[in-house]
Amino acid sequence: MAANLSFIHRFEPARAPGHAPLLLLHGTGGDETDLLPLGRMIAPDAALLSPRGKVLEGGALRFFRRLAEGVFDEEDVRRRADELTAFIAEARAAYGLAAPIAVGFSNGANIAAAVLYRDPQALAGAVLLRPMVPLPESPADLTGKEILLLSGTMDPIVPAENAERLARALSEAGAAVEHRQLPAGHGLSQADVNLASAWLAARNG
Ligand code: MLT
Repeated sequence: MAANLSFIHRFEPARAPGHAPLLLLHGTGGDETDLLPLGRMIAPDAALLSPRGKVLEGGALRFFRRLAEGVFDEEDVRRRADELTAFIAEARAAYGLAAPIAVGFSNGANIAAAVLYRDPQALAGAVLLRPMVPLPESPADLTGKEILLLSGTMDPIVPAENAERLARALSEAGAAVEHRQLPAGHGLSQADVNLASAWLAARNG
């Protein structure tokens, strides 16, 4: 089931009340179906909203343009983050949703971080899986936002220093950041699933 909104997307309604919806944001080369199984695993009863990135890089879908791996087209990051914020508002109205918690992987984590930098009220919080610093400026006021940041100590794409810098920038902007460094690469591990599940469960009571 999916309404005709500004992003191609999938929507799965909540299976029980009282759970924050998840906004699922796929990595480079994924699509709107990719993270639905992960979403169900980490939040079995939540509504799931999963848009498809609009940027094509050699046939791979993404949420914003990059100039090289880890080198972002910053103007495009800002524009695409704002587009995604507008989509979140549309989808909330169409489906009657509370503000979602973003769960983004890699490029999807980076666009989620960019939304937090620019429009923190769009999200109730975020689980950022292997994110990087999305923009050079400081984030907007993130007071009251809770963020779980999971990075991999063997990640060949995200240097440990970059993930630490992101955690610091988010904290300095007022967010409550839990940053865990896992013995993992860029790909997700069972530890990511377990930590994300526990973090979400703690917030849903
Ligand atoms: C990005 O471009 O967002 C990051 O390099 C992560 C990736 O998608 O590989």
